[in-house]
Amino acid sequence: MAVYHQRDVLQNLLSQQKERGRTIGLVPTMGALHEGHLSLVAQSARENDITVVSIFVNPTQFDNKDDLQKYPRSLEEDTRKLYAENPNVLIFAPEVEDVYSDTVRSDHFDFDGLEFQMEGKFRKGHFDGVGTIVKRLFEIVKPDNAYFGEKDYQQLLIVKTMVEKHHIPVQIHGCPIKREENGLAMSSRNKRLPEQLRREAGFIFEVLQQARENFKIQTPEAVKEVIVQRFEEHPEFKLEYVEIADTNTLEPALHKEKDKKYRAFIAVYADEVRLIDNIALN
Ligand code: PAJ
Repeated sequence: MAVYHQRDVLQNLLSQQKERGRTIGLVPTMGALHEGHLSLVAQSARENDITVVSIFVNPTQFDNKDDLQKYPRSLEEDTRKLYAENPNVLIFAPEVEDVYSDTVRSDHFDFDGLEFQMEGKFRKGHFDGVGTIVKRLFEIVKPDNAYFGEKDYQQLLIVKTMVEKHHIPVQIHGCPIKREENGLAMSSRNKRLPEQLRREAGFIFEVLQQARENFKIQTPEAVKEVIVQRFEEHPEFKLEYVEIADTNTLEPALHKEKDKKYRAFIAVYADEVRLIDNIALN
């Protein structure tokens, strides 16, 4: 399996392939790969001649040192999983210095206000970090297509906005959320959950599904209240926020408006592990 650690070695190979007219798909990840990541890889492999999976735990998008330190790293296992999924995939696993040169710092971005909602409120600087690394990866790999999960819905919109604003010639594809059997959205952080809590964490998706039902007949405010109440009955899951927002602007929904689409978003702490999830409401 081809694993590239150095940017220029990968770039040489990719530019030769581009000259031959081959299309390139990029799947940016931070590793600790699961079925969610692999579904993005499969879609890219169907739609492109070459698929590059980047594996890089990006320090500038962590607002919490402890979270960065505890983030699972498992390049060997990831390589095995990718090989089993598709032996032709190229892995790009750079060192921090190779991506950031001498200053490990984010650039500042204007994402048209998307960055001030939800994750942006609770994780300071997070989206500047995401914008910085994704833009650098686009500059290095120059993909025709790039794949992002709806699991991180706000991130997906932010990447689309960045690409438009900076005129980056790449098509961004959003991919559906993969879930564990009990409904828990797959996440690299799930590995850090004690087993019992991981089993019970299907509760989060159950509440989101209930919200989707309630949204048919209730106001956004009432739907949120029910979610808050349900979490109060389950103190092992601490709700950080719940929001019902317009799927394009992410502005909180005050009323339901015809022709608009809404999603419910939540962030939850389960035993120090922060989990996020969302669901389309209409
Ligand atoms: P990471 O959390 O590793 O996720 C990599 C990609 O996989 C993201 O686009 C994410 O939305 C998607 N993904 C994660 N869990 C998923 C699931 N259960 N179903 C479908 N897709 C899922 O997101 C990041 O890394 C980073 O912020 C990154 C974009 C790589 C920048 O550092």
